[in-house]
Amino acid sequence: MQLCELTIGNTQVRNNIFLAPMAGYTDYAIRKLQIDMGAGLTFTELVSAKGLVFGGKNNNTLIYSGDNKDKTAVQLFGADPYYMRSACESDYLRDFSIIDINMGCPVPKVYKNGEGSALLKDIKKAESVVKECVKSGKTITVKIRTGLKYGDDIASEYAKMAENSGAKLITVHGRVREAYYSGEPDYKAIEKAKHSVKIPVIANGGIFTESDADKMLEQTGADGVMIARGAIADPFLIARLTNTEHKHDLKSYILEHLTLSSKIYTDHTATVEFRKFVPYYFKGISGVKDLKLALCKANDLQELRELIEKGV
Ligand SMILES: Cc1cc2nc3c(=O)[nH]c(=O)nc-3n(C[C@H](O)[C@H](O)[C@H](O)COP(=O)(O)O)c2cc1C
Repeated sequence: MQLCELTIGNTQVRNNIFLAPMAGYTDYAIRKLQIDMGAGLTFTELVSAKGLVFGGKNNNTLIYSGDNKDKTAVQLFGADPYYMRSACESDYLRDFSIIDINMGCPVPKVYKNGEGSALLKDIKKAESVVKECVKSGKTITVKIRTGLKYGDDIASEYAKMAENSGAKLITVHGRVREAYYSGEPDYKAIEKAKHSVKIPVIANGGIFTESDADKMLEQTGADGVMIARGAIADPFLIARLTNTEHKHDLKSYILEHLTLSSKIYTDHTATVEFRKFVPYYFKGISGVKDLKLALCKANDLQELRELIEKGV
């Protein structure tokens, strides 16, 4: 895999391997761990633009990035150009230079409001959102899918629109909305998007191994890759791709995950949030059925720590 620095507007990032935004997963703990594993840039989960403007109660937790604001892009969702720009200009985002616009979320709750992937059916609306956000002076990036329905191929049209509207990078998740997160990525559509613009194009979808990353770059000619589930299931994938030395094995990585979680959540929330990582961390490991069950029933972080110390 060809590693290189990337320039995104006025920001230089150390490499072209990015951690994707994942609602409920890429919180401060996971972003910090994956930055330590070498990720060139990480993304917060999607954050509501209106939530930032009106002071939603979870805003600070969602965007908390400690000392890593320069390696963190905040991803916004929304379809109202006014609120999207106001969110970019809000105090919450003062110290972040890169703001990503979500044009890929398939979830009905978001889609029905005309947000997320619904912007893929209204290019004029999508254009006004990008243009208005650019006026905030932030470095704006856009994350899209290849379309809404199987057979769609709109990534290059959207890439051109984003570039002409002032966006500085585009990520193409090589699947349509209908596919949600399954199936082969559409390499051809990503390749077409890559060759239709001058700004960097990042390819995303289905990267779980080093050879998946190689294949993605070979097939698409993209400037880099973005990894979502692969980085949760294999916490050291990004370290291997970026040749980053680190101190962790699975046990110490999970213990660090718990420690970092306790910085942003109450003990109870951190304990509950951890449960959804259990199937990822122990996938393919045999003889851990009882441990997995116990981890999902644990009452607090101390109990989780003790189980991990004993069991991994
Ligand atoms: C649980 C989950 C949550 C996600 N949340 C977001 C999100 O907040 N913003 C976004 O742009 N994409 C989100 N995605 C999509 C991922 O960023 C990525 O595009 C998709 O999972 C494909 O990459 P992968 O095959 O490497 O997992 C999410 C995906 C999953 C599975």
